[in-house]
Order: sequence, then structure tokens, then C-alpha cells
Amino acid sequence: MKLLAIETSCDETAVAVVETHATDTKTTFTILGDALISQIELHREYGGVYPSLAKREHAKNLVPLLGESLSQATLLHDTEQSLDFEAVAFLFEREPELFEALKQFLSTHAVPDVDAIAVTHGPGLPPALWLGVNIARALSIMWNKPLVGINHMEGHLLSGLGEIEGTVITLSMPRLPLLALLISGGHTELVSMNTFLSYELLGQTKDDAVGEAFDKVARMMDLPYPGGPEISLLAEEARREGITPTFTLPRPMISEPHLDFSFSGLKTAVMYHIKKHGVLSEDDKKELALEFENAVTDVLWKKTAQALVDTDAQTLVLGGGVSANTHIRRTFTEHMAQKFPDVSFNIPGAKLTTDNALMIAIAGYFRAERGLFDDPNTLQANSNLTLA
Ligand code: KG4
Ligand code: ZN
Repeated sequence: MKLLAIETSCDETAVAVVETHATDTKTTFTILGDALISQIELHREYGGVYPSLAKREHAKNLVPLLGESLSQATLLHDTEQSLDFEAVAFLFEREPELFEALKQFLSTHAVPDVDAIAVTHGPGLPPALWLGVNIARALSIMWNKPLVGINHMEGHLLSGLGEIEGTVITLSMPRLPLLALLISGGHTELVSMNTFLSYELLGQTKDDAVGEAFDKVARMMDLPYPGGPEISLLAEEARREGITPTFTLPRPMISEPHLDFSFSGLKTAVMYHIKKHGVLSEDDKKELALEFENAVTDVLWKKTAQALVDTDAQTLVLGGGVSANTHIRRTFTEHMAQKFPDVSFNIPGAKLTTDNALMIAIAGYFRAERGLFDDPNTLQANSNLTLA
């Protein structure tokens, strides 16, 4: 099956084309096209994602990236045709420029040889999600291809099961029940999957998401957005230099019996630490980054370990942008080998951790294969879409 996938939930505009081959035990996804524009540099000056800027950039980049991805896949063929766009005009009432770009694109290119279109329809920033959803709906209608709406978190979860080598992602069917720790800028969730593609939410953050906490703490330390990678670099330097923290930050909810998280108290503790301390030297920043990252990792591990026991999970998978974190990856890898040697452990490769369209293609395939399609005339973006 050839799939075209579109992701616009936050500050990455991404379009991918993959071709799948399935056996009983594994599925391979050959990456035919993978075009992505990150807006990180643009949002940096605002210290976080600025929704109307995100929307404008998605609108500008979607059609060019669609062309680029299909062209990489050698599925883009020039033609001249006059088409009737009446059936999709309602999708672009507030986006005349995007509509013009799409009309121009469709009038000059033949229908590509893809079997289905997958698009992120939530969770995420509403104006950003809507652009991706509306483009995907229009393509589905104009090309007469089936459409499948994907939960962004399902993309993170399933792509976490994939191993990427060159241009091929191999995904083995996981042993169930599976437990997923999904950690991103907007989410912190422990999710279990007892049968393939059906989910149960075991715990989640009561306030800030873990990536959000990284970003806010980084901002307090005058580090650029996104803060996760910046804090990680400082903390790793502190470890290399043998710095040990001379103060302790709280590990919120670590001893409570439930599987929920809370990171706002930790963030506030960092704020008080900085207030009390005054100007932070480079070494102070390293020490603070180290203790903050240790506190976050301790909580994430403790809750995950408890959930592994509670659910008797056979597989653990990490997903979401924060799973790129070196210390979290190392800690989980070591602890899993020591404490849960019989549980399969998967972490996504670097290319698959932060937002991308390949993860939407992966989830799209498993839904399309089961005939779980959506109606292109009615598919909605839902910024609060949940997995369970
Ligand atoms: O999944 P993602 O790309 O976007 C969302 O769906 O939110 O996650 C972005 C988040 C940001 O908060 C960013 O700071 C964090 O992931 N992040 C990291 C690292 N790389 C990205 N956090 C900690 N350590 C990292 N290395
Ligand atoms: Zn994400």
C-alpha cells in the first residue's frame, strides 16, 4: 500500500509518502518521500509556539511540501487539466491563498499513484490542525482516494515500535499488553494497549506536560526555545564534569499510588530556586539542569515501573518529543534491562521522536488496512482528541 501522510498539529509542517509491505510478524515502511519544514527558528523569538504564525507558515508550506514529497517518491507527473473545484471550495473559505496554490497544483499534476491519505486531526493547535485536515479532505475528494484521520499520539506510540535503517522502517508486531509512556510538549500519558489499536488511559499529567516543563524551566534559565534539548545538553555536561547537585528539587507525586503526574510544582520550585540564588553562572545552570532532569526522570521511571507491574505489560514503548532526551533514554534502557528483562523495550530512533509525517503514515497504514476510513466531507480537526 502507498500512503500519503500529512502532519500540521504544531510547529512542523510535514508530508511523507511511504510504501508498505506486510508479513505475519512485521511490516516494513519504505520511505519514498519525506518533506518537512520546522518552524522552530521562527517561534524562538516568542519563546514558544505562536499559533497564528504557525497557521500562516503551514498555509504557505503545505502545497510546496506536498509537491516535494510526491516528487521525491517519483509520483509527481506534469499535466494540464481543467478541474471543477466546487466540491472542495467550502474547505477554503477563509484560506483563499492556500486554495489558489492547491488549485494550481492540482491543475498541473496528474493524480498520483497512492492508495490512501492519512492526516493528523488532533490533538494539537486548532488553526494548525485545520489546515492539514482541510488539505487532506480536498485531496481525498479531488483524487477520489480514501482518507484516514489520525490521532497524533497514536502516531507517536506506533512509530515508537519502528526501527529505522536508512530509508526503511521495520515494525514488528508488539507482544501485548503493551504500555506506552507518551511524553511531548502537550502530553504526558501512560497508555495501555490490550488489543492492537485500542487504548486505555492509565494516567496523565494534572497540569503541565513534561515537554512544557522543560520549555518553561529553560525559559527561566534564559535558554532558547525549545528548552528540552538545551537542558539536556547542560545536564549531560554536568554529568561529564562530575557535578553533583547541592540542592534537591521535588519529585511530585512520586510516592502516590496512582499513575498521574504533576510538573507545575517542580517548575515553581525551580522558579524559587532561581529567585533565591540570584544570577546563575554557567556552572549553576548546569547543576540546575542536572537536578531538574534527574527529578523528571525519577518520576517518569517510578510511575512507568508501577504501571508495568500493574498491567503485566509485555512491551514498553516510549514516544513523543521528550523521548529524544538522552538521560531518559539511558535511564529507561538500563532500568528495563535490570528490572524488567523479560519485557520488550522500544524507543523510537531520533528521526521518529519529534513531530514528523512518517509516524502519521505508520498509524495511517494500520487504520487503512483495517478499513477504518473517515468521510472527507465531514472529518473534523479536534484539538482535544484523546486516545481512549
Ligand atoms: O512531540 P513533539 O515534537 O511535539 C509535540 O507533540 O508537543 O515534542 C516537543 C517537545 C518540546 O517540549 C521539546 O522541548 C521536547 O519535546 N524535547 C525534549 C528534547 N527534545 C525535544 N525534551 C527533553 N529533552 C530533549 N532532548
Ligand atoms: Zn508530537
